[in-house]
Amino acid sequence: SDNEEEVVYTVRAQEGETEIFDGTNTKTYGYNGSFLGPVLQFEEGDTVKIRTINELDEETTFHWHGLEVSGEEDGGPHNSLKPGEEELIEFEVTQEASTLWFHPHPEGKTSEQVYNGLAGLIYIEDDNSKSLGLPNEYGKNDIPLIFQDKTFDDQKQLNYSAAMNDDGTIGDTSLVNGTLNPKLTVGKEKVRLRLLNGSNARNYTFKLNTGDSFVQVATDGGFLNKPVTLDEITLTPSERAEIIIDFSQLNSEDGLALINEEDGSILLPFEVSGQSGEDSSIPEEMNDISITEEEMNLPVTKNVELFGMMDMVTINGKKFDPERIDFTQDQGVTEVWEIYNKPDMMGGMIHPFHIHGAQFKILSRNGEEPPENERGWKDSISIEPDETVKIAIQFKQKGVYMFHCHILEHEDNGMMGQVKVE
Ligand code: C2O
Ligand code: CU
Ligand code: CU
Repeated sequence: SDNEEEVVYTVRAQEGETEIFDGTNTKTYGYNGSFLGPVLQFEEGDTVKIRTINELDEETTFHWHGLEVSGEEDGGPHNSLKPGEEELIEFEVTQEASTLWFHPHPEGKTSEQVYNGLAGLIYIEDDNSKSLGLPNEYGKNDIPLIFQDKTFDDQKQLNYSAAMNDDGTIGDTSLVNGTLNPKLTVGKEKVRLRLLNGSNARNYTFKLNTGDSFVQVATDGGFLNKPVTLDEITLTPSERAEIIIDFSQLNSEDGLALINEEDGSILLPFEVSGQSGEDSSIPEEMNDISITEEEMNLPVTKNVELFGMMDMVTINGKKFDPERIDFTQDQGVTEVWEIYNKPDMMGGMIHPFHIHGAQFKILSRNGEEPPENERGWKDSISIEPDETVKIAIQFKQKGVYMFHCHILEHEDNGMMGQVKVE
């Protein structure tokens, strides 16, 4: 490619204080600041160097969720940095335009560190994303949105244990980009929202309070082939979607908001400012992802069985052991993994299943074609009880990668395994 550049970042994991509630400081964690983190911007073909520094009083790692890097750079539990340690990592961006994210991954401590505020976004651009003509003015009509839920104690401090439910933390307070009672001002134009479910355990079903539809243009790992019109979209922890809402077509008189259909709560009210921006359009063709005949006919070579709830969670009957390699796979070879969510006596629950170091394609859900808005690159998938999902996955790099449930408390409780790519 002709746009090869060297991009250099420093990312520090820090402790700080954030004024989430007026007049009170809450102790929080953040990257390069007190809460959450910056958006790291890469282009396909870039060489990226990141100086990662642990300024916390506890071990942490820097995991790039969705990024196709080698196991060494991936920031899983084996790449732990002690307090005060730093590490320079370097990789090439070999994947297409997408919205990824980064967060810590220390063994047994991931959930609490993410809960305390460690999460940032990664944008990858490429020639395609720059020529599609989608809204792309950062903060104006192209908006990053990290949805999380937290519980605060009466001193307005983050209270991890108070938020703990049977299957992870479910906070009573919704934050968007770390902001309480957020409001987004938009023009009468098409606006692109990059949604991340950054919660530890909560599912969101995003919907407009008016019931109006919107258009999904991207999944976890890139653009869909064509835009998909939806009334609502469910994202389980760590899933992303890029959606476009056309505010020039909506009646905003009674107030417009994005709500969580799961509980009816208001997540993000919109204020439509009246001015119409430059009109962008949504192209009919955005990508070229296909499932080949060959991929369709590949035998299943990896079976993953998700089971349990609370701290009794397992994968293939086992809990995580850092010394145990569960699977091996050859670099550059596509394999089909079959993931089954085995119900228990209570019926079971949804587990969001994630694999490090690769983007994969969903071949089928219970033997059927996946819904249209899942026919794109994915790194996390929601799996219902008694559901079987087949995926085709290829790793471009070598190393040891985690696969796990992205309910972070399930992951910390051992619902995680390792695949060694060689
Ligand atoms: Cu979001 Cu193991 O990752
Ligand atoms: Cu990950
Ligand atoms: Cu789970």
